[in-house]
Amino acid sequence: MRQTSQISKLASLRAGFAVLSIFALSGIVSPVSAADPVPMAPAAEAKPAVPGKPKADSAAGEALYNAGDATRGVVACITCHGPKGQSAVSTWPKLSAQHAAYTVKQLKSYKDGSRVNAIMMGMSMPLNEQDMLNIATYLSQQAPSQGVAENKDTILLGQNIYRGGIASKGVQACAGCHSPNGAGIPSQYPRQGGQWAEYSYNQLMNFNQGTRKNLQMNSIAGKLSDIEMKAVSDYMAGLR
Ligand code: HEC
Ligand code: HEC
Repeated sequence: MRQTSQISKLASLRAGFAVLSIFALSGIVSPVSAADPVPMAPAAEAKPAVPGKPKADSAAGEALYNAGDATRGVVACITCHGPKGQSAVSTWPKLSAQHAAYTVKQLKSYKDGSRVNAIMMGMSMPLNEQDMLNIATYLSQQAPSQGVAENKDTILLGQNIYRGGIASKGVQACAGCHSPNGAGIPSQYPRQGGQWAEYSYNQLMNFNQGTRKNLQMNSIAGKLSDIEMKAVSDYMAGLR
């Protein structure tokens, strides 16, 4: 635990430096917001250039997702997460059709070290809030990637947990938050349908162990056995 908090302190320190250098850069190259369609006329809801409220540019997100930006050290996300967010590798999550606000939240959490993963911490470091919103918006507009449940022996167990929870252990139905067909509920509750079982299982294990932090999911996954986590992950992979 102590080590973890040391690491996240270090990470937030680094994030601090990254943010500083982004500000320094934008000071020199002022019209970075060329992507912003209406820089001059703030609409009623869109307050002018508030750093916390950038406007989404899906085309810029697509370009960054597909090609990265070598000048800023942004690696092309497509390398691992696949064309349109439809990853072909079971440890690299599918990102297509995910709610944009959820994706942005995860990218921020990797960057500030509150969600710990060595690869994604590195990938998110050079991204600013505008990049995150752009990429997340682009991904949210892509078709969901479908999958299949592979373990016939545990499908029923997985389905029961997903639809009804486990009353005897006080586990709520996953469907209540992630929706019956796994599409999730914007913007807090992520899409699960079609996700790689191996990735979902890894995340449930992280929530179970407390290495990934979320009050709701730590409590829920903390009550699941290994077999239950595997069964429900496999079931969710086939949801559509
Ligand atoms: C080298 C491979 C690799 C590259 C390149 C990569 N990622 Fe990832 N990404 C991963 C892995 C592995 C995970 C799972 C990490 C974990 O367990 O938390 C992940 C997780 C994520 C998640 C969390 C998904 C969820 O459902 O919670 C998001 C969002 C994400 N990546 C976005 C990006 C973006 C945006 C880029 C490009 C800027 C990118 N990734 C580049 C490997 C990669
Ligand atoms: C009370 C609402 C709620 C219920 C019920 C719930 N979840 Fe979640 N779940 C969440 C939230 C919120 C998140 C996003 C956490 C975050 O922001 O990091 C999440 C995230 C997840 C993730 C990570 C997704 C990703 O892309 O990384 C998995 C896997 C997951 N839940 C599985 C389940 C399973 C399996 C069940 C049922 C046993 C379940 N959840 C029940 C609210 C819920």
